[in-house]
Amino acid sequence: MKVLTVVGARPQFVKAAAVSRALVAQGTTEILVHTGQHYDDNMSEAFFRELNIPAPTLNLGIGGGNHGAQTGRMMQALEDAVLQHNPDWVLVYGDTNSTMAGALVAAKLHTPIAHVEAGLRSFDRKMPEEVNRVVTDHVSSLLFAPTQVAVNNLKNEGLGNVPTVISGDVMYDVALHYAAQADETSRALQTYNLNTKNFVLATVHRAENTDNLENLNAVFGGLNQVAQSLPVVLPLHPRTASALKTNGLDKAFPNITFTEPLGYLDMLSLLKHAAVVATDSGGVQKEAFFQSTPCVTLRTTTEWTELLDSGWNRLQPPTSPQEVALAILSTKGTTGQPMQAYGTGNAATIIAQALNEAKA
Ligand code: UD1
Repeated sequence: MKVLTVVGARPQFVKAAAVSRALVAQGTTEILVHTGQHYDDNMSEAFFRELNIPAPTLNLGIGGGNHGAQTGRMMQALEDAVLQHNPDWVLVYGDTNSTMAGALVAAKLHTPIAHVEAGLRSFDRKMPEEVNRVVTDHVSSLLFAPTQVAVNNLKNEGLGNVPTVISGDVMYDVALHYAAQADETSRALQTYNLNTKNFVLATVHRAENTDNLENLNAVFGGLNQVAQSLPVVLPLHPRTASALKTNGLDKAFPNITFTEPLGYLDMLSLLKHAAVVATDSGGVQKEAFFQSTPCVTLRTTTEWTELLDSGWNRLQPPTSPQEVALAILSTKGTTGQPMQAYGTGNAATIIAQALNEAKA
């Protein structure tokens, strides 16, 4: 069996780390195609090195740009790659422009598509990720839904007849696999002068927060207020760095400890030792839960509703600095209910085997 995997953005490298390992273990040939959507060393190659992901067979070097231009350039180059390698499957992850570009190209070439993280929905079509998810699920031949909620979403959209496997969450596999290594090797606490369970780990990169000045001010103003009493460390995504700079806000939040984007092991360590995680990322919400750290999601919706139901996560839309700060500070010391919604850490093996069986 030959699988052509499309990755492009940071969270996809993490997910591919688990599935690539499982594919190799069962003797599958994987053509790993990196679209180049993320390209800085600390957003891309650092993850390949740290997580021992095989070097991409092909890097398309697409880079940034507006949605249409970026997706179009990806599709043009991916079409050549799929034609050249003629795989049994095109495997795509999550909800980025790289995901949708891979899915659309494969659909037009009649190559079966398998989608990891199928069925997630925020029900907000203004999010580019929601459009990418819906399109990808609707052209896929095999859907890997991480949870029962995701399966229900697929059924409600009329996709109940498409082969669907509840795989669990591949990010959980990766978190378990690297837990001991992060404990042993990460020096992030010392580097940023942080004490365990006495700081907030924050990440902000979603367009709805970075591209709207009121939201940007509410989120960063809130984090800056929190940091008066509880240290806040914030690895800065390039999109957010650019939004702060463009709006003249790059020096406006002096209490926050800004860092460059961090590697996976340092993030794992900070997620474990943080008192609270505050984020607008989908992956980081789950990663906080894997470390039993409570999370505040700085958005109006989340796709990972199990985290809300179990009390590990709460939504705090970017309404005002005061409300954002209060939500974060009042989450310190809270916990949620025990929960097994994301599987048992063998999602990647389930996915690799299902690809093999469905092909046969
Ligand atoms: C993308 C995904 C988002 C995902 C996120 C993970 C889409 C629509 N969005 O958002 O779903 O949560 O990745 O991080 O696909 N940039 C750099 N260096 C890099 C990468 C990006 O400078 O290594 C710049 C780009 O040039 C661009 C901006 O950051 O100006 C945003 O990058 P882009 O890939 O468009 O989307 P993300 O915000 O990273």
